[in-house]
Amino acid sequence: MRERLLGLSEAAAEDGDPLRWFEELYSSAKRDAGEIPWAALEPNPVMMNWLQGRGFSGHALVIGCGLGDDAAGLAAQGFEVTAFDLSDTCIEWCRERFPDSNVDWQVADLLNLPESWLANFDLVVEIHILQAIPEELRERAAPMVPKLLKNGGHLFCIGRLDDGSESEIPPPPWPLKMSWLQAMFASLEQVDFQPFIKEETPDVNRYLAVWKKS
Ligand SMILES: C[S@@+](CC[C@H](N)C(=O)[O-])C[C@H]1O[C@@H](n2cnc3c(N)ncnc32)[C@H](O)[C@@H]1O
Repeated sequence: MRERLLGLSEAAAEDGDPLRWFEELYSSAKRDAGEIPWAALEPNPVMMNWLQGRGFSGHALVIGCGLGDDAAGLAAQGFEVTAFDLSDTCIEWCRERFPDSNVDWQVADLLNLPESWLANFDLVVEIHILQAIPEELRERAAPMVPKLLKNGGHLFCIGRLDDGSESEIPPPPWPLKMSWLQAMFASLEQVDFQPFIKEETPDVNRYLAVWKKS
């Protein structure tokens, strides 16, 4: 699966359309979630644990929602949720997987967001998105993220951490440096940062980071 993913992403980059492979991967999976390497088919437990007991509420936006479990999990917790992804097939698949959820599923590109979404959300979730976008586009995509927050809103991020010790694995994903994230979100107040590893992938350094628009 990993070789196939690398092949798709390299071909897309060579053709000058580096994000094309996401749609290719979702459409070729033919609704088999086993073909989507990041599909955990449950809300991210690190996010759900972090939110527990903090009293957050309101309108949440899930960026690059994949198969939709984070969005559905937030909706089940009482958030009003908008979730978007670049891939049409992925969003159709979310609608099929969660027919009774009141999540507003949308096809959209982080690099070209609807104006009505700006300054509109109490919680913005970015899990494994910036690290999946090649550097040149990532530098344009990241500054869009803080713009989505209302005053007082929180940005919740999870990703692979480049702390200088990561072994050389061909991207994607591209592990991110904390200093890079801090520079991209300098307009926000950082309220949490926790490095962590998952038991099943102990060689991969990860981070949880939370920011607030004051
Ligand atoms: C590595 S997956 C992570 C999916 C999900 N957040 C998760 O944690 O399982 C990256 C997702 O971001 C989407 N994506 C990539 N670039 C995007 C962009 N510019 N705008 C919106 N979604 C994007 C992809 O289609 C894919 O679903």
